[in-house]
Amino acid sequence: MQMASLVVVGAQWGDEGKGKTIDLLASRSQVVVRSQGGNNAGHTVIVGDEVYKLHLIPSGILYPETLCLIGNGVVVDPKVLLEEMDGLIARGIGCRNLRIDPRAHVIMPYHILLDNLSERARGKGDIGTTGRGIGPCYMDKAERSGLRMCDLIDEARFSERARAAIEAKNRVITGVYGGEPLDADAVIAEYTAYGRRLREFVEDTSVLAYDAVKAGKSVLFEGAQGTLLDLDVGTYPYVTSSHPVSGGVCVGAGIGPTLIDEVLGVAKAYTTRVGKGPFPTELFDETGDLIRNRGHEFGTTTGRPRRTGWFDAVIARFAVRVNGLTSIAINKLDTMAGLPTIKICDAYELDGTRTENFPADLETLGRCTPHYIEVPGFEEDISGCTSFDALPQAAKNYIETIERLIGCHVSMVGVGPARSQMLDR
Ligand code: GDP
Ligand code: IMO
Ligand code: MG
Repeated sequence: MQMASLVVVGAQWGDEGKGKTIDLLASRSQVVVRSQGGNNAGHTVIVGDEVYKLHLIPSGILYPETLCLIGNGVVVDPKVLLEEMDGLIARGIGCRNLRIDPRAHVIMPYHILLDNLSERARGKGDIGTTGRGIGPCYMDKAERSGLRMCDLIDEARFSERARAAIEAKNRVITGVYGGEPLDADAVIAEYTAYGRRLREFVEDTSVLAYDAVKAGKSVLFEGAQGTLLDLDVGTYPYVTSSHPVSGGVCVGAGIGPTLIDEVLGVAKAYTTRVGKGPFPTELFDETGDLIRNRGHEFGTTTGRPRRTGWFDAVIARFAVRVNGLTSIAINKLDTMAGLPTIKICDAYELDGTRTENFPADLETLGRCTPHYIEVPGFEEDISGCTSFDALPQAAKNYIETIERLIGCHVSMVGVGPARSQMLDR
């Protein structure tokens, strides 16, 4: 794939194999940038026998020369970040090429506590968040009361602002939710130490990304979550609190849209979702179990079993539109092997009429039933295939059918989790 600056976004509900795809493309890039989300993300990269599960650090980190940027739009849990850095360093992966933007907001212990308390208070109407404090941190950002990386690394300022914030949040924690208040002194001491360690990594990443693009370097923007989890265009309220769509990259990385050359969507050959919310093509039968077990569909971050279902072309078309995808990668085709026939949802039926666009309102979506076309499956284990042409005819037909239904070029096909198991097309 030709690239100068390339945005990679999840085209479904997350976990599409973005980490693997970025790791592969990063071999041809000088810079990898995360621009939104936080450690709700879990991106798996496999190199040989080594499995890396990255939550905050960009998936380019395995290449020693690649500059890895955590942009202003990311919410950073400094404790998790340091654990992740230490874990990589212990495995011989240096983190000296990591930079964190001073504008990035900091996830504090009260965000994590409030995430879990508010989920509990929602009862049956819970969202099924990852419990990592993501929503409450973005709430403070929007409310203009958040603490940023530039605050964390300034000890006197941090101590003063964190104390005021903890006192205010303790009133909510105890008064609204009946929870245990946080000890301000202990939190300040712990987080001041994190700030001290992270100080040397804080640098304006917008400048670094801009300069790299201008110098003709290849820059990759690594999306987290997925299109249907977008706060604005996703299945609200069953979404995350950031903007995983390509437009979010501009804001979250501090770059303008004219700096982006290509937008690659990443999807699975079927659909999965973790957490609550609508999922029109969800399977509740043995086929769903088979896909979950064969595809190891258990959350990278929380270990929760992922809900599974057929490929939904309505959703993929939606992703093509709202992200302006220039091409799409389809991962995990190997997982579909052995199914006698494969279904693809090409449209929804809504009150007796065919609709090809994903509805805005969940109540409307609830009245939609998926319309399926069926294509022949393939028996063969395709994980050893090294070119698209070498795939069984039925597997090729499946990809070509998807391509036709969504109106977007399928540029890569994944047949296994390793770097080498991605077929260019
Ligand atoms: P991400 O959040 O989009 O980076 O995706 P995750 O890492 O959370 O989940 C994708 C899972 O699928 C990981 O376990 C990957 O190792 C695995 N994976 C990625 N691509 C393929 C593929 O083409 N085939 C198979 N069998 N597994 C894949
Ligand atoms: P990656 O980058 C899949 C889901 C959660 C929940 C909803 C809100 O690995 O694809 P949050 O904690 O963000 O407030 O939870 O979003 N979610 C993800 N699902 N992959 C992810 O990231 C996700 N990040 C958040 O399960 O339904
Ligand atoms: Mg994931």
